[in-house]
Amino acid sequence: MTSKPPESAFGRDLIACLESRPRTISPKYFYDAAGSALFERICALPEYYVTRTECAIFERYIGQMAALIGPDAQIVEFGAGSLLKARLLLEALERPRHFVPVDISGAQLLASAAVLRGCIPGLEVTPVIADFTSPESCVLPTPMFGRRCGFFPGSTIGNFTPDQASEFLSGAARLLRGGGLLIGVDLVKDPQWLHAAYNDAEGVTAAFNRNLLVRANRELGSDFSVDRFHHYAFYDPVRQRIEMHLLSAGRQSVSLGERKFEFLDGESLHTENSYKYTLDGFRTLASRSGFEPRACWCDERGLFSVHWLVAPA
Ligand code: AVI
Repeated sequence: MTSKPPESAFGRDLIACLESRPRTISPKYFYDAAGSALFERICALPEYYVTRTECAIFERYIGQMAALIGPDAQIVEFGAGSLLKARLLLEALERPRHFVPVDISGAQLLASAAVLRGCIPGLEVTPVIADFTSPESCVLPTPMFGRRCGFFPGSTIGNFTPDQASEFLSGAARLLRGGGLLIGVDLVKDPQWLHAAYNDAEGVTAAFNRNLLVRANRELGSDFSVDRFHHYAFYDPVRQRIEMHLLSAGRQSVSLGERKFEFLDGESLHTENSYKYTLDGFRTLASRSGFEPRACWCDERGLFSVHWLVAPA
C-alpha cells in the first residue's frame, strides 16, 4: 500500500527538515492545542522566570507605559497568547479605543477576543487572523481616534533569527508609523538561569519539545517513537541563544508518507532557538530596523526588559 505524501505546510516543512543537514524546523509547529496548553504550564513553572518577571515589570511600570502610549490608542497585539498582559495594559490606558489581536490560529484568537470584549467599557475588539511575522501583510482597521501602537510581549521575538527579528521590526515600524511598539525582550544572563528555565525538573519543557513528534504522528501519519527522542537544551553564549533539540536515542528510522528517514545515535532534530539580548544590542537592532528606542524598564535582577520604541511618521 502506498500512502499520500503530507500536503500541509507542516508536512512539507517536516519533510524538508528531515531531508536536510542539520535538521531544523520552525518552532511555530509547537503550538497545536496540546502544545499551547504545555506552553501555558511552562509559563507557570518555578524555573521559567520569563513570564513572572515580565508580568512584574508590567505591574510596576504600567502607568508610565500607558502615559507614553497616550489616550485613544488602537492596540495591535502580535500573537494572542497573553490575555492577562493585554488586559493589564488596556486597563491602564486612557480611553483605549480599539484592540486588534493578530494571530494565525483563529481558535485562541477568538477566545481571547471574547474575554476582553465587555471587560473594558467603550473598547472595540477586532480579531484579525493573519501571519503577524510579516506585519505589513496584515490588513488592519484604520485607527479612528488616536494612534496605532503594537504590543508584543513574552520575548517571542527571541524565537526569530536576528535576520527575521530585523525583518519583523522593519515591517512593524512601517505598520505602526506615527505610533510605537511595546515589546518584551529576554536578556543575556548567567547561563544557570537559562539552563534551569529550559530544563525544568518536572519535564514540562521536554514534553513541549516532544509534542512536535506527537503532532506529526497524529496529523501526518508519521511513526516517530516519541520516547526514543530526548529533549536537549543548552545555552550558546557566543550566539546568545538557547538551542532546543530532540536527540535520537540509538539508530532508528522514521516513515513519513512514502519516505523513510534514518537517524544515527545522538543525531539531532533542531526545534527552537531562543535568543537573548543585551539592552544595547536590542536597541541597536530596533534603531537599524526603523524605530527610535525611547524607554526601557527592567526588573531589579536584570533578567528581562520591556522597551518602548517609537515608529516615526
Ligand atoms: C514563546 N517563547 C518566547 C518561549 C521561549 O522562551 O523561547 C518558548 C519556549 N520554549 C521553551 N520554553 C519556552
